[in-house]
Amino acid sequence: MAEALASGLKASGMSPSLCVKGKNKNTTDGFAHQLGIKSYNNSNLLEILIIAVKPHQIQSAVQPLLPLAENTIVISVAAGVDCESLVHILNHGAIVRAMPNLAIANQCGMTALFSESASPMQQEVVGELFSGLGQTMWLEADEQMHAVTVLLGSGPAFFMHFTQSLLKWGRDYLPQDICDACVKHASSAANDMMSQYPINDAVNRVASKGGVTEAGLNVLTQKLDDLMGKALSSSVSKSHNMTE
Ligand SMILES: NC(=O)c1ccc[n+]([C@@H]2O[C@H](COP(=O)([O-])OP(=O)(O)OC[C@H]3O[C@@H](n4cnc5c(N)ncnc54)[C@H](OP(=O)(O)O)[C@@H]3O)[C@@H](O)[C@H]2O)c1
Repeated sequence: MAEALASGLKASGMSPSLCVKGKNKNTTDGFAHQLGIKSYNNSNLLEILIIAVKPHQIQSAVQPLLPLAENTIVISVAAGVDCESLVHILNHGAIVRAMPNLAIANQCGMTALFSESASPMQQEVVGELFSGLGQTMWLEADEQMHAVTVLLGSGPAFFMHFTQSLLKWGRDYLPQDICDACVKHASSAANDMMSQYPINDAVNRVASKGGVTEAGLNVLTQKLDDLMGKALSSSVSKSHNMTE
């Protein structure tokens, strides 16, 4: 995620004095060099600090940077760590939570944002920063981040896992290149249709009454809804317990 953020921000041109800090100096320096940005050193003035480490790593990652200047805006993309905990860990006011997905690397992501402590002007700055990486939306409650994390952050993996199931089945019946081409096209066709029609209409256009698609969907519908309900609840529950 840190690499996706840095790549997207660099390409967006929204953050001219972007620099990165990682745990492993060689890896971080190599990445910074590759991207044409700087590695963080202690003299860098931090207008905005983006925390993109695992939730349990936040404490040790930010410790060397504390205390932060009063007007530094902190953005955390860590799943499951709410604003109250971040204020406590950082002993700092201006905090924004952001939940992006990896498509931000190519500036076609989406990021959900929430803050209860950053000023309207600071929120505007953060909104503009992330708008260079794709779409943005502000949430009304920190609690909503759990569901957003699962749908927006983890969501691409769920879609790709479904695609893996199609591939797994198809490769038993077709040469791999033909199977893969069919499934990849099906995925982009689904995206195209969902952008053109409401989702129920899009499904019904493919699944004509009494047809081949309907036969498969009849098996899927109830079982898939139940299974996805369980899977998403399990992810939400993990999001609630990320710091444990
Ligand atoms: N993956 C996603 O799609 C996604 C989506 C939304 C949100 N997130 C959130 O993004 C965060 C990172 O997830 P990830 O999947 O990118 O994890 P990851 O691959 O494990 O990356 C963790 C990063 O943290 C760095 N790090 C660890 N300890 C550090 C320290 N003490 N000081 C500085 N840097 C330190 C590591 O640097 P080194 O490489 O130098 O060790 C590494 O770059 C998580 O909180 C996750 O909830 C991820």
